[in-house]
Amino acid sequence: MCGIVGYIGHREAYPILITGLKRQEYRGYDSTGVALINQEGLTVYKKQGKVAELEEALLGKNLSTNIGIGHTRWATHGEPSDVNAHPHLSASGKLAMIHNGIIENYAQLKKELLNKGYQFKSETDTEVLVNFIEEIKTNEDCPLEEALRIALKRVSGAYVILLLDSEQPDTIVAARKGSPLVIGIGKGEHFLGSDATPMLEYTKEVVYVNDYEIAIVKADELVLKNLGNEKQTPYISNLDLELAAIEKGGYDHFMLKEIHEQPATIFDCLRGRLDAQKGTITMKGVQDNIDTLVKANRYIIIACGTSWHAALLAEYVIEELCRIPVEVEYASEFRYRNPIIREGDVIIAVSQSGETADTLVAIEKAKEQGALIFGIVNVVGSSISRASHAGAYTHAGPEIGVASTKAFTAQLAVLLMMALKIANEKGTIDKSRYARLLVELAEAPEKVEAILKNAEELKVMGQKYKDSVNALYLGRGYNFPIALEGALKLKEISYIHAEGYPAAEMKHGPIALVDNQLPVIFVATKDDYHAKIVSNIQEIKARKGIVIAIISEGDDIIPTMANDVFVIPPADEIVAPLLSVIPLQLLSYYIGVARGCDVDKPRNLAKSVTVE
Ligand code: AGP
Repeated sequence: MCGIVGYIGHREAYPILITGLKRQEYRGYDSTGVALINQEGLTVYKKQGKVAELEEALLGKNLSTNIGIGHTRWATHGEPSDVNAHPHLSASGKLAMIHNGIIENYAQLKKELLNKGYQFKSETDTEVLVNFIEEIKTNEDCPLEEALRIALKRVSGAYVILLLDSEQPDTIVAARKGSPLVIGIGKGEHFLGSDATPMLEYTKEVVYVNDYEIAIVKADELVLKNLGNEKQTPYISNLDLELAAIEKGGYDHFMLKEIHEQPATIFDCLRGRLDAQKGTITMKGVQDNIDTLVKANRYIIIACGTSWHAALLAEYVIEELCRIPVEVEYASEFRYRNPIIREGDVIIAVSQSGETADTLVAIEKAKEQGALIFGIVNVVGSSISRASHAGAYTHAGPEIGVASTKAFTAQLAVLLMMALKIANEKGTIDKSRYARLLVELAEAPEKVEAILKNAEELKVMGQKYKDSVNALYLGRGYNFPIALEGALKLKEISYIHAEGYPAAEMKHGPIALVDNQLPVIFVATKDDYHAKIVSNIQEIKARKGIVIAIISEGDDIIPTMANDVFVIPPADEIVAPLLSVIPLQLLSYYIGVARGCDVDKPRNLAKSVTVE
């Protein structure tokens, strides 16, 4: 899950590459580099560290050119270092290549090349592939695109590849399988990126390159071919994305900005779909497949990370409202477990980026067995949205902070609307409850606004608990998935070890961890389990544990027991998770900032995990 950028045209390429790489840095930030072709020939500049450090190191160099490629890395093969950074040059120095993905059979290809006397400077699969391509180019005496086509027939794994050839200084050759590649169409120029962010201010016309396609890109020409060397017609889409959406807008971090965007993003997610007055929910993807969804024997929800927590909450809601059995699967396990998929099963794939490889390959597996794939995705035009038979976008806008926040609440809103629509269609929810839940959902943005007004309280709590070594997050029922999400946020952002647990499960082991140093965060909003969660809090207090509780307005019991409480507006237990997660996002943010962590780019993480 690296970020790639390319430019060819009439403008100076280097500044476009550097700006593009900075916008791609959420995809990986171990090391970075560019390759340029100018009077000095084909030159590679690369180093370990962030884009700004490379920029600093290149001050004063002759970087003037109209063609170049750039890469920001998330290490898979070989540790973060200058030599493992991309681009990688071929043995002759005539080819330079950047790559996002994993070449699974690179060891075998490397062996073949070693037997032919090749030597390797780095530990990467990418350096192996660029030399494998050069070997074919030399032996077959063919143009670069031909050599690439032949080479890719021998390659297994996922890739986006961009190549420069010093013998073809007016062309960028690219190829895609599994990892995302977007090409921006300009007048006499073309832009390439892992997503559209590097080209936003230059063009709104983009082509999403498909798997097994090769692109031959010149300043005034774009040719797409398949691996059978047949020309493909580029399908041009119009981007509905503004530059402002990917800038910090005066906030210190993207994560804080995105947390504060949630009243608007939840509203955008509901807009044009939920009409509480009319008592209607309009979702085309659901409506077009309503018979299949209503008559389904089982839903299997596949996801990873935060999206998996949204899936788990959906299991509780769908089973409660629709009376349809639901199974929630970690995509990576589902893919290799040889799952049983029967007639009448519906697969729901949840993903912010729409590019998570584990989820993508899992739905491909289910698709082979004839299941309907319903995608719930945030990034328009992403691979999972294009691999799904139907779906719903979450409309949360670009999420740059690696820790998912606004996309999570938008996923919950979509899953809740979907469950309510299907339950109403199926007649498994009574009319008054249905109408009340639509009103509750419509009120969510306002209630989130009210919660954000008290963010300062969490800043104080963050300072108070910043030196914690461990933490436990507990919840019951609909609040259990939120406890898991709270724990994940703290882990990701502050590197404090945290675990989420069903509150009652605690007695069966984790309670052994409790002492006067351990913060135990309860998601304890008013619901049918409230009395039970109060006893769980007493169990912690009895062992001198530190209790922090997210509670509903009007709760006058828990404040008498807890060390710290954060009060949220009252809401139905099914809608409350959309609210109770907000203070947990803010708490992890403020603890991360207080510990001096890079909250937008936490160590070892990347925004979309495009390799298995
Ligand atoms: C969440 O904060 C993390 N960034 C990560 O767990 C993420 O949710 C996971 O990688 C799934 O990503 P997706 O929603 O883009 O598929």
